[in-house]
Amino acid sequence: MDLLIKNGTLVTAKSTFKADLAVKNGKITAIGTNLKPEKGTEVVDARGKLVLPGAIDGHTHLAMPFGGTISSDDYFTGTRSAACGGTTTVFDFVLQGQGELMQDAFKRRDKLAAPDAAVDYAFHIGVCDVTEDRLLDSMEDVVKEGVTSFKVFMVYDFGVDDGSFYKVLQKAAKIGGLVGVHAENRDVNNVLVAQYLKEGKTDAWWHYMAKNEKIEGEADVRAINLARMAGTSLYIVHLACKQGVDAVTKARDEGYPIFAETCPQYLNFTNEVYKRERARDYVCSPPMKGKESQDAIWEAIKRGDIATIATDHCPFTRAEKDWGIKTKDGKKGNFTTIPNGCAGIENMYPYILSEANKGRISFNRAVELCATNPSKLFGLDDQKGALEVGLDADIVLYDRKKNVTIRNKDLHGATDHTIWEGAKIKGYPVATYSRGKLVYKDGQFVGEKGYGKLVRCKTLKFKNPQL
Ligand code: URP
Ligand code: ZN
Ligand code: ZN
Repeated sequence: MDLLIKNGTLVTAKSTFKADLAVKNGKITAIGTNLKPEKGTEVVDARGKLVLPGAIDGHTHLAMPFGGTISSDDYFTGTRSAACGGTTTVFDFVLQGQGELMQDAFKRRDKLAAPDAAVDYAFHIGVCDVTEDRLLDSMEDVVKEGVTSFKVFMVYDFGVDDGSFYKVLQKAAKIGGLVGVHAENRDVNNVLVAQYLKEGKTDAWWHYMAKNEKIEGEADVRAINLARMAGTSLYIVHLACKQGVDAVTKARDEGYPIFAETCPQYLNFTNEVYKRERARDYVCSPPMKGKESQDAIWEAIKRGDIATIATDHCPFTRAEKDWGIKTKDGKKGNFTTIPNGCAGIENMYPYILSEANKGRISFNRAVELCATNPSKLFGLDDQKGALEVGLDADIVLYDRKKNVTIRNKDLHGATDHTIWEGAKIKGYPVATYSRGKLVYKDGQFVGEKGYGKLVRCKTLKFKNPQL
C-alpha cells in the first residue's frame, strides 16, 4: 500500500462512517477499521476531518474561443484551480467546427489538454454542425473514443435548430450517448436584443431581460418535449429558472429520464447582481434569475430533481468584461459585447459543502450532486465519483472548522477577478488527492502540469429518472 488515510469520517452519497482508507497504484484498495500500514506506506491522520470523493465538474470551458476572445483559464491553470477546490475531474466542452468530424474535434482539443492538465479530464462534444450525414454519423466514432456525451445549444449563432437537435437525440439514443442542452429561445432573445438596443437599453440588466425566465423556461419545456418525441433521455445543463425546474420535475414524475444540472452561481446570486456597479462581471448565459427561481432550484435539489451541480466555468478578464462599455475596436459597447461566462471551478465544492456544513443539505447529498451523480450520468462510475474499493483514489480531506473568505488573490486560476470575492465559506478542503497523488494541500497547489489523464467514458442508456 502506498497511502493510508487513517481515522477519518468517510462520506459517500449514501452513508457516513468512520474508517481508514488504503491506496495502492492510484486506486482505493481497502476501506475498513484498524488498517495497518505496510513498510514504506505514507500514513495521513485524518482525525476530525471528512474524507470525500473528489468532485467531478461536469461543465467547464477552458481555453475556449468565445465572445471574440478565449476564456482565460487554459487546461493547466483551470485544472490547477480545480484541484485546489477539491475537484479531481473536469468535463470540458469541445466545440465542433463547421464541417468538422466529431472525433477530429476531440483529438484537436485533446492535444491541447494532455500536456497541461493537472487533474483528470474528459470531454463532451458541443455539437454545432450536423447538416451532413457524415457529421451526424461521426457521433458514433467519437463514442468509440470514450466521448459519450454531447451538448446542443438552442441559442447563440453556433447553436442548432430543433430539427438538428432532434436528429442528435435520435442518434444518441442509438449509439449510447447522452445529450445535454443549453436551453434558451434564440429567436425571441434576438428580437428582444434588437428592441432593447434600439431603445438605448445597453447595460447588463438588459442581458438578463433579453434572457429572462420565460426565454429559458420555454426552451426547457421544448427540449424536454423533443427528448420525449425522440424517446430518449436528456440532460439540461445550467438550469436556472423555475419554469424549467417545474418541467423537469413533471417529466421525472411521469417516469421520463430527464436530468438537470445547476450551478453555484444560480444558488448564490439573483438577478439583483445586474444592478451592481460592475454588473458586467456577472454576465453569463443563462443569466442569474429572480429569487423565485433560486428558491425553486434549492427545493428541487432537496427533493432530488436536480441531478448534478457543475460550474460552467468560463472566465474572462475585467478588461474583456469592459467591452460592454467600450468594445475592443474602440466603439461604444453594450450588453451583447460582453463575453458570457464567469469563473467558478475552484469554488463549487467548497460552496456546496459549506451549504451542507450550514445544514441546508446533507454532506451525502453534496457528494452525490458533485461527484457520484456526474460519474453515473457521464459513464465514469466504474472509475470515479465514490469512495469504493477498485475506484481511482480521487479524495478530498475536508475541515469543517476551517472558514475561508474568498479572495481572487488566493485562488489558483488565471483570471483577475471573481464574482465570489468576499463570499464566506464555512469549512474548506485541506487536501486533494488525484489517483492517490497529493495535488493540493493547505491552500497550495502541489501537483504537476501534465499529470492529469484523459478519462474515457462508457456508453450510456437511461430508461427512467433514477440513477
Ligand atoms: O455564459 C456562459 N455560460 N458561457 C459559456 C458557454 C455556455 O453557454 O455554457
Ligand atoms: Zn451553455
Ligand atoms: Zn457552459
